Amino acid sequence: MFTGPRALIDHDALRANLALVRRHAPASRIWAVVKADAYGHGLLEVAATLSQAHGLAVARVEEGVRLREAGLGLPILVLEGAIFPGEVEVAARHRLELALHQEEQVALLEQSRAHPPLRVWIKVDTGMHRLGVQPEAVPALIDRLARCSRLVGPPGLMTHLANADCPEDGLTLRQCERLRALAPPGALLSIGNSAGILAFPAARTDWVRPGIMLYGSSPFARPTAAELGLRPVMTLQTRLIAIKPLRRGDAVGYAGTWVCPEDMAIGVAGIGYGDGYPRHAPSGTPVLVAGRRAPLVGRVSMDMISIDLRGLPDVKLGDPVTLWGKGISVDEIAASAGTISYELLCRVTPRVRREHLGALPRERRVL
Ligand SMILES: Cc1ncc(COP(=O)(O)O)c(C=O)c1O
Repeated sequence: MFTGPRALIDHDALRANLALVRRHAPASRIWAVVKADAYGHGLLEVAATLSQAHGLAVARVEEGVRLREAGLGLPILVLEGAIFPGEVEVAARHRLELALHQEEQVALLEQSRAHPPLRVWIKVDTGMHRLGVQPEAVPALIDRLARCSRLVGPPGLMTHLANADCPEDGLTLRQCERLRALAPPGALLSIGNSAGILAFPAARTDWVRPGIMLYGSSPFARPTAAELGLRPVMTLQTRLIAIKPLRRGDAVGYAGTWVCPEDMAIGVAGIGYGDGYPRHAPSGTPVLVAGRRAPLVGRVSMDMISIDLRGLPDVKLGDPVTLWGKGISVDEIAASAGTISYELLCRVTPRVRREHLGALPRERRVL
């Protein structure tokens, strides 16, 4: 019997969120971003469901290879491209499309040994200042790539938005305009991440690259995921493993950072930072015990958290405790813990059992 924490992955919600992307960007093709183990949800299971998109996007060549080896046939884009000698050939053999964000990657392509033709995207730094070639270098690069014999079609142009989660920030529109101004006639463009797709029509280009919204989290403080019509995909759950009657003045957990203001019951739930629950979640961060909200109190330990049960006199040992997901948004927990949903979702550790629910394309319910 498995009694530890579980991450329930709702594939119907995943499909509904993909449908929402389609409604926002009906003329765009969709790279569903599944890097980092599909934001912690399980790469192969999520990719199988999201193969209803037009393509999948990963950060690294080895993530793309895993998808191909699992039999996924749709286009796969490697967002960081090939970095090291040999990676171009591996990518080409696995029909991975490559981003080219620096001159060295073009040289790698030119020096690569015989391999099947591949498709590339020039990643342009239009204002993020992380990866990307400078806009003024693009025309010469396009000419250079035209002389490269092992490419399929002309390169696409892509860029990544730095501030699209702040819709009032003018940088996003400037980034979109910079990329569009560089595009030769007929070149495919890719701009929008989730925030771009939701807030900026100019970012809804030939291809868009949604990540976090597919998993049911809002890229904005407002509107919330629920207001946007997004459904949570991961529900992180555990159980109450102890209920302790404590006295007024008793200090709870390591360093005794929270002190009982009266005689009261404290619940202990079997989940902690060893499972990926954020250690820096402060007292007051909400959880759901048997479906009702209660605040976490004291420090998060490796395997346990403590919960103030004063509002819930009737809960019992073994009752389910939901940390985020259905009924309590991961965005609310992230805000309370001073981080973002992306980090919480990606950091759920392997000892948390993933259970895949809803209509699944394969028999892959539990890994
Ligand atoms: C290049 C690129 N495109 C798209 C995405 C997806 O972004 P989001 O999860 O905010 O939709 C990411 C994620 O970090 C990215 O790095």
